[in-house]
Amino acid sequence: MYTTLEPCSHYGKTSPCVNQIIKSRIKRVVIGLKDPNPKVNGRGIDKLKKKKIKVTIGILKDEIKKIHSGFFNKIKNKKPFISTKIAISINGKMINNKKKWITSESSREYGNFLRAKYDAIITGINTVLYDNPLLNCRHQGMINLSPVRIILDSKLRIRESLKIIKTAKKIKTYVFTISNEKKKIMKLNRLGLKIKIFNQNREERLNLKDVILEMTKMGFNNVLVEAGPNLNASFFKNNLIDKIYYFKSKNFINSKVLDTEKKLMEANIKKLKFKTLSSRQYEDDVLKIYEK
Ligand SMILES: NC(=O)c1ccc[n+]([C@@H]2O[C@H](COP(=O)([O-])OP(=O)(O)OC[C@H]3O[C@@H](n4cnc5c(N)ncnc54)[C@H](OP(=O)(O)O)[C@@H]3O)[C@@H](O)[C@H]2O)c1
Repeated sequence: MYTTLEPCSHYGKTSPCVNQIIKSRIKRVVIGLKDPNPKVNGRGIDKLKKKKIKVTIGILKDEIKKIHSGFFNKIKNKKPFISTKIAISINGKMINNKKKWITSESSREYGNFLRAKYDAIITGINTVLYDNPLLNCRHQGMINLSPVRIILDSKLRIRESLKIIKTAKKIKTYVFTISNEKKKIMKLNRLGLKIKIFNQNREERLNLKDVILEMTKMGFNNVLVEAGPNLNASFFKNNLIDKIYYFKSKNFINSKVLDTEKKLMEANIKKLKFKTLSSRQYEDDVLKIYEK
């Protein structure tokens, strides 16, 4: 048997993999990397060896670190790997009041494909109310890879007519809130939404550190933020972003205020010392990828 990570030895959502391997009379297991999870960390390997199963460890280490980067990051930093996807117009705007796209079709296609690489996608209630998005992956054959959707909605302003509610029975969707409106919560539950109520605080708004702690407990390794300037600013302020997909478009958005969002985002990229990982073109847009 060939595995990327050491087979687990503990009871989690399922029973230990090593028990199944032993039961199946597998004679040799080739393991890429030892599982850094303190609940496993060598115990799986020991159990296999005790049963006289041949074990080889340390194959394709770098490649495995890359594909499991979210998981390794979660164990090390006690939080999921968090990326944000930002689209910015030539005059520095993230919001188009005319509800037209900021980026080209190819950029949006890539952005949609990206969703499938993440366990969860997180947004704020303003984006949900203004854009009425589905936040799923619509690439052919990849719909089932759509991430769990999480909406931050401190005051429970979500409305029943939204697409996200209409699809909540098909795609797992959580609303994180500090509101305790029992009647509305029961109604939303019936529509398929799962509501998580957080403690009230001085800001009368969800605390992002609590939100991330909850997402870690929920088992997410990779989280994608798809939100507007305000929620992005909060993520950056709390230094929670690990990677940025920054789409710079040639489109101009009519607006009296110039450059504010661009200035804010680019100041964060500089202040938090993000490094440019790559740069590529999608039609007239440039996608710059930054990582810590
Ligand atoms: N260009 C882009 O890349 C892009 C991407 C997505 C969206 N957008 C645009 O962005 C606009 C909305 O931007 P936005 O930033 O105001 O809305 P947002 O993405 O919905 O995020 C802000 C909302 O999240 C909620 N929130 C909960 N906890 C928060 C916290 N700790 N910090 C900050 N917000 C928190 C707030 O509402 P409560 O306090 O009521 O919960 C707040 O109204 C829309 O017009 C949309 O089209 C642009």
